[in-house]
Amino acid sequence: MSVRVFRDVLRLSLAVPLWAGLTAGALAKDNTAEIDSRALDTTAPATTRQALADDVPVVADHAMVVTAQHLATRVGVDILKEGGNAVDAAVAVGYALAVVHPCCGNIGGGGFMLVHMAETKAGPAKNLFLDFREKAPAAATPTLFQNDDGEVVDGLSTDSYLAVGVPGTVMGLETARQRFGTLSRKRLMAPAIQLAENGYTLRPGDINILDTRTQDFADQPNVADIFLKDGMPYEAGDTLKQPELAKSLKAIADHGTKAFYEGHIADELVAASKAHGGILTRADLANYTAEWRAPIRCDYDGKTVVSAPPPSSGGTAICEILGIIDPLPLTDWGYGSAKTSHYLIEAERRTFADRNTYLGDPDFIDNPIDALLSDAHLDELRSSIKADRATPSSDIQASLGPDEGTHTTHYSIVDSAGNAVGVTYTINYLFGNARIAGDTGFFLNNEMNDFTAKPGVPNAFGLVQGKANQVEGGKRPLSSMSPSMLLDDNGDVFMVTGSPGGSTIISTTLESMINVLDFDMNMQQSVNAPRIHNQWLPDVTRVEAGYLTPETREALRAMGHSFNETDSWGADEAVLVDSATGKRHGANDRRRPAGLAAGF
Ligand code: DON
Repeated sequence: MSVRVFRDVLRLSLAVPLWAGLTAGALAKDNTAEIDSRALDTTAPATTRQALADDVPVVADHAMVVTAQHLATRVGVDILKEGGNAVDAAVAVGYALAVVHPCCGNIGGGGFMLVHMAETKAGPAKNLFLDFREKAPAAATPTLFQNDDGEVVDGLSTDSYLAVGVPGTVMGLETARQRFGTLSRKRLMAPAIQLAENGYTLRPGDINILDTRTQDFADQPNVADIFLKDGMPYEAGDTLKQPELAKSLKAIADHGTKAFYEGHIADELVAASKAHGGILTRADLANYTAEWRAPIRCDYDGKTVVSAPPPSSGGTAICEILGIIDPLPLTDWGYGSAKTSHYLIEAERRTFADRNTYLGDPDFIDNPIDALLSDAHLDELRSSIKADRATPSSDIQASLGPDEGTHTTHYSIVDSAGNAVGVTYTINYLFGNARIAGDTGFFLNNEMNDFTAKPGVPNAFGLVQGKANQVEGGKRPLSSMSPSMLLDDNGDVFMVTGSPGGSTIISTTLESMINVLDFDMNMQQSVNAPRIHNQWLPDVTRVEAGYLTPETREALRAMGHSFNETDSWGADEAVLVDSATGKRHGANDRRRPAGLAAGF
């Protein structure tokens, strides 16, 4: 699938009429006048704030689960009601999403889990990050996706068996369960097995995702057998059964990670890879490990941000952007105002230049996190922003001194004891590379596209990256996935947030925080609010409909900004804990109509 087709796939048409008709969004005092003295139309008819006015989160007294598919949310709630903790629920939801959200939930990919274990008599609170990101097969080299002339071969890192990284999800979920879970693997996997075996009823929100890859399904007979109905797309109301996936899940439930990394499933993965020009070996699977890592931390607006460390770029980038904007009066400027937008764009532009240049798998390179998040660096970046002009991305280079060295899903869970889990996991594209090995029943990832195929050549998300993220055997590709939490001053969880969306994950996750902290939105308004994203290159800012008023957009244009208004992106599934009442506020993103926030 070409990059262009992929962009179309990313642009799921999940528009909600309210938003489709949105025309303007002056929200708070607009400071455009300071930049452009033209009189502003402050009487715009439908403001974004008005459009958000009726958005309220789901509120529960004890516990909350928010996922992109309602049946997976129910699975999580049942586990919590039965006395399981947030990690138990996260494991059960992880397997359930592999069945009911097959575009994105997976056992053929990898991801990250952020865990907050609340203080108990036995010890203080802990914040831990589990890295179960895919690894490159051992035989992978920096030029894997280039031809003999050194040119990147279109589609090789996305649409072939070379695109497949060694999957990490099964190892990750079992590693988390063994350390913090209280229920058996069989108990936690039973709902997923049942949903795969007996099937589930497809809703319109499921169908519009399945429909994005009908042709790719049709091209692979073993995929068409499962995901097409007699060769035709499924329709809302149909039942989707996945007996092959049920068999794979049962094997894992019965025999643990060995069933995936050493047994029949491993045989099928290696055989399919060999038969189709891949390089995956039994040893790659047998040697796969998940790693516990210390999360990235920073302070913002009286909260502690806890987020994803490398091999994710997410936590570092979020903290870098927050560090740049921290002293600015965003609350006075208002959501969507010209000033807020200008400084957000400029902070993101500078941060992505650093992200794309310096970050990579910590098992292979030294990530200069301390330098990137140092006051000196943040001050320097902030002071390089001109108040009245956009900085062309071509004028920005990654700025540390030389010696310093679109598919995915996110879910958030808070249990009654105050433990919390945020998981973002992925097979990269919607339905990964749309291939299923033999009779295993699950889609394989095309995560290898997240590597730098060649320095300077953009990947599917348009990220122009460098050598720190070049392909190497056993290395994990740099990710943008950012399961994140905000902690209040007692160290208790205040928010769990995260999103799919490739490079836009970083801005989506960040905006879900500042919409609450700076712009006084509730959790539902925060995830529903239109978004803005800049990633240095290409030198254009993406905005969702309704983010900018025509006047603000014009004022920013006059400053040198250019915009690409694209359809909705991201799907932030978030929970906020009301510090005063302890109530859990769950928010399913309006962009995932099949999703659900539910609690008790
Ligand atoms: O790890 C990453 O950054 C990407 N593979 C995530 C892909 C993604 O979010 C696709 N969804 N739109």
